[in-house]
Amino acid sequence: MRIGILTGGGDCPGLNAVIRAVVRKGIAEHGDEIVGFRDGWRGVLEGDTVRMDLAAVRGILPRGGTVLGTSRTNPYAADGGPERVLETLERLGIEALVPIGGEDTLGVATRLAEQGVRVVGVPKTIDNDLDSTDYTFGFDTAVGVAMEAIDRLHTTGDSHHRTLVVEVMGRHAGWIALHAGMAGGANVILIPEKPFDVDGVVAHCRHRFESGYSPIVVVSEGAKPKDGDLSTSTGEKDAFGHVRLGGIGQALASLIEERTGREARAVVLGHIQRGGTPSPFDRVLATRFGLAAVDAVHDGQSGVMVALRGTDIVRVPLSAATAQLKLVPAERYAEAEVFFG
Ligand code: F6P
Repeated sequence: MRIGILTGGGDCPGLNAVIRAVVRKGIAEHGDEIVGFRDGWRGVLEGDTVRMDLAAVRGILPRGGTVLGTSRTNPYAADGGPERVLETLERLGIEALVPIGGEDTLGVATRLAEQGVRVVGVPKTIDNDLDSTDYTFGFDTAVGVAMEAIDRLHTTGDSHHRTLVVEVMGRHAGWIALHAGMAGGANVILIPEKPFDVDGVVAHCRHRFESGYSPIVVVSEGAKPKDGDLSTSTGEKDAFGHVRLGGIGQALASLIEERTGREARAVVLGHIQRGGTPSPFDRVLATRFGLAAVDAVHDGQSGVMVALRGTDIVRVPLSAATAQLKLVPAERYAEAEVFFG
């Protein structure tokens, strides 16, 4: 069978493990031919391909990023996009497509499946906010990076008697902040799901100083204050309408410094969380997703996504996976709150 594969949206550690698993299993068990599309849907639109044989995936398991490249190109936003995609697939004799991506990439996959393309999606987001799967690969690695940063910031914060505000990724969901903050012993964790009270944050910081230590505040890039009295960014947005990274952490640090009368510094972890080698958990999850995608293709499935439920890899409808985001439930946040202050 000739199977097309692509990676779309923001990169994250584990993408290469999926690609490797699809190529290795497809070739070894089914004699498949795997065609890689460069830079997500752009490669499909433009027919930009690379042959993915065994040599192409040798040594890529521990490598971060994606050997196929990625982009946020959406064929449905391009002139004649869907027609060009169908034409490329037809011309190259692609019988099934395995797109690896988040909400946007899999949203395109859902629409193509409705148009008759055989599609088996693989979920990917560093933010862990895709519905229908317990975890996405890349998340565990990002949490590890953020936790290590918090561990290091505790010692420098305590030495200088300063507040350290650590801004982590998470535009709509606070999973990285919640897990990294819990693992790193943060004194306050702020997430987009729960608008925060500035007075409460300041009170926790004061309390921490009074106990002889310095506060660590972990904040998701998408967190917002309740009362709106905190200017969170320059207002700058990227080409996709997303608020740029770096606003809330700095704004919060300035405010905490002013209100506690002690120095505060902001650290924006940004893309460091997305780069580098995947953790063991992410390598295994990504590999299992890749293997399961090949099984689904050969079982004649379409319009499905492979997903993690407990310890099992299952298949779920693509449309359900992209219908809504998986947000942090109130009871999970309440567990972290026990350690605030
Ligand atoms: O959606 C994943 C994500 O990492 C977000 O947490 C972050 O806001 C965004 O991507 C960053 O996107 P870019 O790499 O385009 O700056």
